[in-house]
Amino acid sequence: MDVELTLNGEDVTLTAAQSDTLLDALRGAGYTGTKRGCGTGDCGFCTVAVDGEPVKSCLQPVARVEGATVETIENLGTQDELHPVQAAFVDNAALQCGFCIPGMIMRVTQLLESNPEPDEREIREALSGNICRCTGYEKIVDAVQDAAMRLSNDGAVVSDGGRPVSSNRSCVGCSDCPGGDGE
Ligand code: FES
Ligand code: FES
Repeated sequence: MDVELTLNGEDVTLTAAQSDTLLDALRGAGYTGTKRGCGTGDCGFCTVAVDGEPVKSCLQPVARVEGATVETIENLGTQDELHPVQAAFVDNAALQCGFCIPGMIMRVTQLLESNPEPDEREIREALSGNICRCTGYEKIVDAVQDAAMRLSNDGAVVSDGGRPVSSNRSCVGCSDCPGGDGE
């Protein structure tokens, strides 16, 4: 079976079995950034965007994405130039084994597109379908708040592991950031 869709901005044809899920087809076509965890819709590792909405690709029959627009983690940043959400996760040490992270980042990217300034409750609610067994979630929430700031600052990203200066975060005037005077 051939399935035609727009994948990461390009018109492609995925060849798949009738019973394949979108996850099967993506990984079979080399898009291995999308991870298989539970395979039953519980972990969120396989999250991608379909027509702008977060979808657990292990539950999505590939036949249903005929004509759809699909985005995977491969369409975000590169190793040398991370997307602001990816950079925020790295800078906040919001990952350990990293296996949950592609799905987590796809979900967060969708969240911030629909709600650029989520509060902590909204972040936790949005990520309730994305499990992480390593981090304890606190740093993930920090990373999402940081990513929201970076995106609202036109994607400004610091490269030294620090946070960008933002008007909605209190400044303690230290010498470690460009906004501090060290006094
Ligand atoms: S692999 Fe899809 S939700 Fe776990
Ligand atoms: S970083 Fe290991 S499962 Fe999330």
